[in-house]
Amino acid sequence: MLYGSKVILRTLRGDDLPQLIALHNDASVKSLAAMHQFPVSPELEAAWLESILMDKSNTKAYFGIESITSGLLAGICFLQNINWVDRIAWFGIAILPQNQGKGYGREALDLIVQYGFEALNLQKICLYVLGVNLAAIKLYKQKGFVTEGVLRNHCNYQGQHCDLQIMSLFREEQVL
Ligand SMILES: CC(C)(COP(=O)(O)OP(=O)(O)OC[C@H]1O[C@@H](n2cnc3c(N)ncnc32)[C@H](O)[C@@H]1OP(=O)(O)O)[C@@H](O)C(=O)NCCC(=O)NCCS
Repeated sequence: MLYGSKVILRTLRGDDLPQLIALHNDASVKSLAAMHQFPVSPELEAAWLESILMDKSNTKAYFGIESITSGLLAGICFLQNINWVDRIAWFGIAILPQNQGKGYGREALDLIVQYGFEALNLQKICLYVLGVNLAAIKLYKQKGFVTEGVLRNHCNYQGQHCDLQIMSLFREEQVL
């Protein structure tokens, strides 16, 4: 477990299923985060959760973001596609709408970046973000992430094409 002052990053659990179904069916989260774009049934979500809980590939580290105040799951964040030769991983995060804007995302990012660089000995953390996702881009830049490239008009956002940015952070660049 990774402890912050507002959130704890912990493993996902079977009893997180209701919050995960809500997260993965929320239209605003779905449109901003690169996730399964179709409606998610309880059965499909349970199968996805099972695959995460039982994963032995050593290529992904998924965390539940638990609010210390409520004790409930506020969102998820993860490092995936971990490449042990290049020492690179891809970051993702999604927070339930009612928990956004409370500082949980910033703290979760700090905790998982520290975990990636120190516990996993990564040299670089990468992410994809929609060009229209100004809140997330601001958060990532404040952490030290730099835009490496732009895939132009690569994604659909609410019926319009928009850019997809690739951002990355080296261990030495992180803002502590
Ligand atoms: C983007 C996201 C991870 C940020 O997490 P959060 O807990 O809401 O953000 P925080 O409260 O920690 O705030 C961090 C920064 O995000 C920005 N931010 C957060 N909520 C915002 C909002 N509603 N409007 C504008 N900016 C916002 C602010 O810049 C804030 O920095 P500030 O405190 O200096 O103003 C979260 O809102 C989220 O999951 N959104 C939907 C899914 C998504 O976009 N995932 C990222 C895909 S790359």
